[in-house]
Amino acid sequence: MARTTVHVCSECGFQSAKWHGQCPGCEAWNTLVEERIPTARGAAARGGGGRARGARAAAGGGAAGGAAGGQGAGLRLAPRLLSEVGSAPLARMSTGVGELDRVLGGGLVPGSLVLLGGSPGIGKSTLTNMVLGNLAQAGRRTLYVSGEESAEQVRLRAERLVLNPTRPTTTNHALDVPILAETDLDTVLATIAGEAPEVCVIDSVQTLGASELSGAPGSVGQVRAVAARIMQLAKAQGVAVILVGHVTKDGALAGPRVLEHLVDCVLQFEGERERPYRELRALKNRFGSTNEAGLFEMRQGGLVEVLDASARFVAEATRAPGSVVLAAMEGSRPLLVEVQALVAPSELEQPRRVVSGLDRNRLALVLAILGRHGGVRTGGADVFVNVVGGVRVDEPGCDLAVALAVASASRGVPLKGTPRGCFGELGLTGELRWVGHPERRLQEAAKHGLQGVIAPADSGASACEVATLRQALAAALPSGSGNGRARPNAERGGSPVALVGEPGPVAAPRVLRTAPDAGAQLVPVGEESGDREPH
Ligand code: TYD
Ligand code: MG
Repeated sequence: MARTTVHVCSECGFQSAKWHGQCPGCEAWNTLVEERIPTARGAAARGGGGRARGARAAAGGGAAGGAAGGQGAGLRLAPRLLSEVGSAPLARMSTGVGELDRVLGGGLVPGSLVLLGGSPGIGKSTLTNMVLGNLAQAGRRTLYVSGEESAEQVRLRAERLVLNPTRPTTTNHALDVPILAETDLDTVLATIAGEAPEVCVIDSVQTLGASELSGAPGSVGQVRAVAARIMQLAKAQGVAVILVGHVTKDGALAGPRVLEHLVDCVLQFEGERERPYRELRALKNRFGSTNEAGLFEMRQGGLVEVLDASARFVAEATRAPGSVVLAAMEGSRPLLVEVQALVAPSELEQPRRVVSGLDRNRLALVLAILGRHGGVRTGGADVFVNVVGGVRVDEPGCDLAVALAVASASRGVPLKGTPRGCFGELGLTGELRWVGHPERRLQEAAKHGLQGVIAPADSGASACEVATLRQALAAALPSGSGNGRARPNAERGGSPVALVGEPGPVAAPRVLRTAPDAGAQLVPVGEESGDREPH
């Protein structure tokens, strides 16, 4: 039988009939991926988009030759000006989940491919079940393809869902969704072609297998082939497809990462399984902004949109030392979150830096700036920083909150006027830098009763504007306890704070090591080595 597949190196394009651990072409390891040999028609349709160098040489040889010789076998077309290209407004379908619609840019676009990634147990199946239930209720044709769970298991979940929390007694439309429990790609494609749904969910892309490829389902070659063929069908038939994909913490395992180029929209579902809050972010969106984020809570009855998150976080904020409220931006939406810090004397040679909900390198940086320019030294102490509620904050505006929380914790005194709000980025020279949307942050803070929000210059009249970290500490900490004027507080439980310029134990030079796992977040850093860390 003629060979239908070939192993192609994803680094150099080398082709081989057999799989090799190391590419004979470029000697890279684990780069050979099994691919179908493109047929002449398929290669022409893709316009030489295939990655294989050999395939391009064979199928695109005419084009290359044509360019050189001026004549090719292809048809010459007249390019049009963009202004002459008609643009039909996108007909979006509402998923019935407001937060998801917002992240998608207004709803699902027919014929689009959406990749929904997230670690196992985060709620991807729950969300997609709810979406299809809502769409079925709206009279759309839907299809749920489950390669992971049996039809009975999916039914059990659907029975638990409450799609209309305001009217819980109404019919559960999650049960009106047709399901196909199948893992063979050809069967799935034939069924989609026959059923012609408007919206289809594939849960998950790692469980489907193309029979012509020998790799196990979930391997890089399989995942790519599966997604490519589903995309062809989705575009041809105008089906909106949501591909569910698992990501491990480092995102490496035969994961949806390899699909990011292929799909129109990549959504990431984040959060910790043990905590109720879940965040949905768009990492890529051809039909909308990637700035939006949606917040959900996992409850009995499914995922519930959290619309009043700021109110909840401010109400829950502790007034204790080490607590500060950060006026953050979640995309275009302001969100008030509590940042907490704990500073405790360390028993370890390399004190611990543990951070949750923030970038750990950012903590190292803030601690270095705090020691150098704020007079708060934490070199001999373990420092723990946490964004409460399992929320993740990914913006430079969080620096000041981390600095104030750590300063307050290490001094053992609550900030003045707690809950105290703040935002701003710290520069390496100790200055407080302007961050985007100060007016929206201040409005949100005022709405929830926070006064005197500490912010960089030019933020707004209602803010307590400061130019440097030192000024921010002076404004936030009760007088006599901050701004480098206080004595180190040995009698209050042996606070590890030392003042700049004071003789203290000389710390041996330490080397910053990056934790191998983004989830572990245990990063021993040397004192004030943040600005010298490797990138
Ligand atoms: P699931 O959607 O299966 O996660 P994923 O598909 O991402 O692996 O569900 C995740 C968890 O949510 C599961 O442990 C049970 C919980 N859950 C609830 O708390 N309430 C509910 O109504 C449902 C359906 C699930
Ligand atoms: Mg699932």
